[in-house]
Amino acid sequence: MSARQHSIGGLNSVRHILQRANARPFRGGSKIAPSGDKTTKQSRRIFTAEDARMLARRRLPRLVFDFVDGAAGREIAAAKNISAFDEIELQPRVMQDVSSRNLRTTFLGSEYDCPVGIAPMGMCDLIWHGADRMLARASNRFNAPLCLSSAASCLIEDMLSWTEGRAWFQLYVGQSMDHTLDMVERAKTAGYETLVLTVDVPQVSRRVRDLRNGFEMPFRIGPRQFLDFAAHPKWSLTTLVNGAPSAKNFPTDRGNSGFDRGASRAGADWAFLNRLRDLWPGRLVIKGVTSVADAKRIQSCGADAIYVSNHGGRQLDSAPAAIKLLPAIRTALGPDYPLIFDSGIRSGEDVVKALAFGADFVMLGRPLLFAIGAEGERGLNSLFSIFTEEISLTLAQLGLTRPGEISRDVLINPPASLTEKSTQLHITKSIKRA
Ligand SMILES: Cc1cc2nc3c(=O)[nH]c(=O)nc-3n(C[C@H](O)[C@H](O)[C@H](O)COP(=O)(O)O)c2cc1C
Repeated sequence: MSARQHSIGGLNSVRHILQRANARPFRGGSKIAPSGDKTTKQSRRIFTAEDARMLARRRLPRLVFDFVDGAAGREIAAAKNISAFDEIELQPRVMQDVSSRNLRTTFLGSEYDCPVGIAPMGMCDLIWHGADRMLARASNRFNAPLCLSSAASCLIEDMLSWTEGRAWFQLYVGQSMDHTLDMVERAKTAGYETLVLTVDVPQVSRRVRDLRNGFEMPFRIGPRQFLDFAAHPKWSLTTLVNGAPSAKNFPTDRGNSGFDRGASRAGADWAFLNRLRDLWPGRLVIKGVTSVADAKRIQSCGADAIYVSNHGGRQLDSAPAAIKLLPAIRTALGPDYPLIFDSGIRSGEDVVKALAFGADFVMLGRPLLFAIGAEGERGLNSLFSIFTEEISLTLAQLGLTRPGEISRDVLINPPASLTEKSTQLHITKSIKRA
């Protein structure tokens, strides 16, 4: 057994110890929760991701809503991420026995209830006090991985414990290399198995809504922000009582917050990837990849998985919809290489489409924060359940019973890269999944 395999084995045991120590009476969303548990209540107003977004828009200060909803430049890439899914059509199939369906998925060595997880998002507690805890409980309830951001508003160590070992850690190579390596060490010591290096933020882009709103961390409260907060007293009082959230894993010896949002994150270069591969004994995932050339080089550097994403359109406004780039990357990397996808997922049908385009696993971003902004934990539970239910119902319409049966055959007009060049690869992948 290699040193790396040994180390992953050690991390697995840490995870199992944590899971046993924190064993809860219900998990995975399928068992009945004790009545009166506020964390399992369902919303009566959220039926789609857009419902959550509209409710959050009303309940949150504009500055906070725009921080989540906004994107780079004219927000064309963000809009394209969503409209590209609308253009993908699925072929209904009939007269199959689909009465019993199972969404369980094994990915990166762990079994999850469904092929979806929680994308890394910084400063979640800004949306509502306690959002990080709510996401952790959702990770447990739905047995889904949660990727903790470097810029999280909770501690690296706390999140692994709250999620009973399900969390992955997302790394930015930020203003200080020493601090970056310190976060890697902390994640390793805490027992994280999966490290996600984000590489598509060499520099934070111009997000025009944030600039217009005067969004800064920590908050600068001028007359404009004051009026915005005053118009949303519930959010403002909750935030006031609990203290403004900060990026908890950054040293605070340079004033209010050590996190410099505008600092270059370009230290995540090829040399750093090689260094990190040597340093990190667990699974290493590279996030923010949309080019075939980059994907092939990352694969050859020994990364365990690639996370295809255009950061929800928050970086390059002229970027194509991320989903359009996924099939060519799948083809280039072969049928077995693990691929994660996010950017523009707004329904269970979108999840199925991403799987048909070549992803093995899909991450949910903005919609989960909107659900929290709309109705707190109740909203989050509802939206997560809706995604799960929609995936299952979509499978039924397609004549399928498991995510592993999804292939390009469910697509009407599959993209050329999935048909011409990769037919053989695709057939191999379908056989392997079955
Ligand atoms: C408020 C917010 C904060 C984010 N913070 C991070 C982060 O800290 N690290 C990271 O890799 N991606 C971050 N992202 C990007 C998400 O991980 C994900 O790629 C994106 O939200 C997907 O697009 P969608 O939300 O439109 O589906 C953030 C996204 C949002 C909306």
